[in-house]
Amino acid sequence: MFQQLLSLFKWINLEKRPILICFFLIGLLTINAQSNAHKKEKFISNLMKKMTLDEKIGQLNLLTAGSGIPTGSVVSKDVEQKIIQGNVGALFGIHGPDKIRKAQDLAVKKSRLGIPLIFGSDVIHGYQTTFPIPLGIASCWDMKWIEKSARIAAQEASANGINWTFSPMVDICRDPRWGRIAEGAGEDAFYGSQVAKAMVKGYQGNDLAKNNTILSCVKHFALYGASEAGRDYNTTDMSKIRMYSDYLPPYKAAIDAGASSVMTSFNDVDGIPATGNKWLLTELLRNQWKFDGFVVSDYTALNEMSDHGLGDLKKVTEQAINAGLDMDMVGEGFLKHLKSLLHEKKISKQQIDLACKRILEAKYALGLFDDPFRYIDEHRAAMEIMTVENRKFARDLAARSCVLLKNLNHLLPLDKKDKIALIGPLADNKNNMLGTWAVSGDPQQSITVYEGMKQNASSADNIVYAKGANISDDTILAKNVNVFGTRIDIDQKSSDQMIEEALKVAAFSEKIVAIIGEASEMSGESSSRTNLELPESQKKLIRALKKTGKPLILVLMSGRPLILNEEHDLADAILLSWHPGTEAGNAISDVLFGAYNPSGKLTVSFPRSVGQIPVYYNHKNTGRPATKIEFEKFRSHYLDASNFPLFPFGFGLSYTKFEYGELILNQKIMTKSNSLIVSCKITNSGDFDGEEIVQLYLRDLEASVTRPIKELKGFEKILLKKGESKEVSFTLTEQDLKFFNAKLEYVAEPGDFKVFIGTNSDLCREANFSFRND
Ligand code: NOJ
Repeated sequence: MFQQLLSLFKWINLEKRPILICFFLIGLLTINAQSNAHKKEKFISNLMKKMTLDEKIGQLNLLTAGSGIPTGSVVSKDVEQKIIQGNVGALFGIHGPDKIRKAQDLAVKKSRLGIPLIFGSDVIHGYQTTFPIPLGIASCWDMKWIEKSARIAAQEASANGINWTFSPMVDICRDPRWGRIAEGAGEDAFYGSQVAKAMVKGYQGNDLAKNNTILSCVKHFALYGASEAGRDYNTTDMSKIRMYSDYLPPYKAAIDAGASSVMTSFNDVDGIPATGNKWLLTELLRNQWKFDGFVVSDYTALNEMSDHGLGDLKKVTEQAINAGLDMDMVGEGFLKHLKSLLHEKKISKQQIDLACKRILEAKYALGLFDDPFRYIDEHRAAMEIMTVENRKFARDLAARSCVLLKNLNHLLPLDKKDKIALIGPLADNKNNMLGTWAVSGDPQQSITVYEGMKQNASSADNIVYAKGANISDDTILAKNVNVFGTRIDIDQKSSDQMIEEALKVAAFSEKIVAIIGEASEMSGESSSRTNLELPESQKKLIRALKKTGKPLILVLMSGRPLILNEEHDLADAILLSWHPGTEAGNAISDVLFGAYNPSGKLTVSFPRSVGQIPVYYNHKNTGRPATKIEFEKFRSHYLDASNFPLFPFGFGLSYTKFEYGELILNQKIMTKSNSLIVSCKITNSGDFDGEEIVQLYLRDLEASVTRPIKELKGFEKILLKKGESKEVSFTLTEQDLKFFNAKLEYVAEPGDFKVFIGTNSDLCREANFSFRND
């Protein structure tokens, strides 16, 4: 092709005129895109001409085949029969080439028109090779790594027949009581938007028709992370200005990045359940944001509109399709009622056609009409899942997701020769390494910290283990957590006996490493908590270990920010590993022994008490802002606690030390046409090479609406060798100063600003500048 083009250029004398060649190529690409779009239109319209009304409605139906973990009380019945009758558009809860081939066979060979199915799954943080939970992955602040995690997940899932993931979950959350905080990227809209884009790119690649790229589904649209009181599935209620500023941007970023589908959330938005909310699904999503993929409900969310109090299934079905819902997950409201609603003229044929067309377009994009079996390849399934390279990536990513919260007297890294007492209920516990939403991962394939430390120490004998405590002694909590398998295993031994064993082990060691935290299902869906302390069993253990007087290192595995005041006082070092995934033990020992110098930073604040929630860095100033020093009457304080989190957004230490110089601005006045360059010299003045995540924040000091005290607007991860310095520069344009005003217009207003560069949201250098009209 290239040779032919070159000869053509020579022939028409274009070869020495690069600009003309560019125009020529752009022209060719445009013609090609247009002809592809035309081909697709023609194919789909021809197909739809052949389809009966029932077959069209069938495309709008997503069923679960029932394996894996159902996330509702209803499970689909007579799935095979429904596929044959053309009553199913897509299927999830089915894995592996064999089963998927059988289901696709039924659709393609036994249904009247042979329309292939889409196969979905919750591929959330890796597929079989499981990466850290999303909140953990987010802590690496490296979009290339995040994108690659999604890429590998797509490769593995597609090798097993899956071509649609219900990810990324981009719900902003400022309330760690909500268990699903584990599934998102934290509390910040700007940061969450970067992660959203990276994930969509990773899953979908540049060409959905390739057999290793899959459809992404941005969820849960919208505001699900703002469930009142952090209780799952609860009501949300917020002003439009907060929605636009703080909660909607990551969904929009995912859509702008080309996400093919959107999943509605369980909650209501401004009094109307998201699944039947026309403002949300049509006005905002379609008209304002120009989304052209398809919208699927969450699991039986259509039916649940009746429980929200909006009428019977038929009535809510009418409302949902009128709102702009295209596909119904598991509830079968569409299947049961769309036809009669049409006959009663409550809805139009065009609405059903449009929804059906959007789903057929997704199938077309996946290349399923060319080859319905293109994702079903036993050879790929055998060769491309859980490969050595994927496990290596999981190990490195898990190390990069660790956040060092405390490191007194440079206790870490450990020496490989240290005699270590490895203690704690999560130290040798395969069942809890993968974290929530690892439906395709096999816990037995995961590496525990005990295994990892023995492998990586200079001698396995240096590592001596005792469990020391149950994750929790609370039998009711254990029952609620263990619904899909044992995550909290309550030992026969009493807690005193276990602590005694731990102390014996500690007596023969130089240092204590305690692996503590939450069971994997203590966070995630339907796993809200009101008490965010470590369970009492583990607190008792930590107190007893402290009394030994030996250096005490805590490794914390959790799915959410916990309240760590006491542990912060007691421990000499704390490493937060979240739930690290398949390579947990190797990654943690890489960090503990210094093979990897931790660089992760929190993307969510760690409160000091549940009473402070919501606590987040980008809050407003109020008219009576608190002082950091002490209580002052008539200021925005608590009588009994500080306002400030224990660990702020962006916080994370390193084994080395980074020093920040003064900020240098290329000018003090910025205009539309004159961007501002802000620079800062950062020096690694410690004893290790290390990576630092340099963060840039802005504050608008003078605006028509109240603005946050700081907002993240940029970040860069740099590697500095020991003793090395580097100047990091950020270029700010008018776009970075924009915000939603009271009319919800996205504007930059002239006035004064502060710019901050620092190591976390609380510790920054700052300078002032003004923005003026040209
Ligand atoms: C319910 C969850 O809210 C959603 O995130 C998930 O994708 C679906 N169930 C399907 O499992």
